[in-house]
Amino acid sequence: MRSDLAALAALLSDRIGLAVDEGKHQAIEMRLQPTVAAAGLPNVSELVHRLSKGGDPALLDRTIDAMVTCETLFFRDRKPFEALRATVLPRLREARRAERRIRIWSAACATGQEPYSLAMLIDEQQREFAGWRVEIVASDVSAAAVAAAREGRYSQFEVQRGLPTPLLLRHFQRDGEAWRINDHLRAHVEFRRANLIDEFGRFGRFDIVFCRNVLMYMDVERRRDILQRLSRVLADDGYLALGAAETVVGISDEFEPAPDCAGLFRRKTPASLRMAANS
Ligand SMILES: C[S@@+](CC[C@H](N)C(=O)[O-])C[C@H]1O[C@@H](n2cnc3c(N)ncnc32)[C@H](O)[C@@H]1O
Repeated sequence: MRSDLAALAALLSDRIGLAVDEGKHQAIEMRLQPTVAAAGLPNVSELVHRLSKGGDPALLDRTIDAMVTCETLFFRDRKPFEALRATVLPRLREARRAERRIRIWSAACATGQEPYSLAMLIDEQQREFAGWRVEIVASDVSAAAVAAAREGRYSQFEVQRGLPTPLLLRHFQRDGEAWRINDHLRAHVEFRRANLIDEFGRFGRFDIVFCRNVLMYMDVERRRDILQRLSRVLADDGYLALGAAETVVGISDEFEPAPDCAGLFRRKTPASLRMAANS
């Protein structure tokens, strides 16, 4: 095993929670070649050396950008969005009718397709939400992903992935070969750069958290820690969405599958916590 690649894997695990199998160390090296070249460095060993010394946050950012997987699409997996439309949003509108405020967090938003899908869904129910404040916060650890999300400019290929044509025509305008999201929808989403490894309690409380297809790249201890902290920012009657291949089962004591909303999770009630403790 090469010690420089092992050190890099340890650094990525420490900084962003990325779990890299020993067998994939060579793949990291391949993936970082363009970053090494752009930084004018001779090889990955020198990159690791610079990163280990610290003091070059821009280089660390570019390394993180190169290492994360930003694969995403509009209305990915459909089911959680359908559950929001049919069940969760009507339920929360009833529960929050006094304060008329709902907060949603897309906690690993990649290039923005997920939070913009949420914004389109809210827009679809604009009549029901008249007079309400619906906040959508979107964050990601990758500076490049957040910048792209904020820009909201998508290729023809990207808008063909998951986005129904009527929504494309309603919310996007042509920008050369690409499509740009309309200002009113962009203004609905507040983008931030945030690392789930760091404390995020300052973001406040949320009624819905989408934390999808990010925990799958982390080891079980990291997942457990993040889920525990997510449970503290989620309202008692709030909903958590994970990726289609992700679950809380066997990892988190705080959440359980929402019985009537496929793919969503809720905080355990005191009764279910007591039952779990006695079983
Ligand atoms: C596969 S994408 C998922 C995007 C979207 N949630 C979806 O399901 O389509 C994973 C995203 O997680 C982000 N990510 C990885 N580690 C992270 C961390 N520690 N904190 C916040 N975001 C992270 C990556 O930058 C990437 O944009």
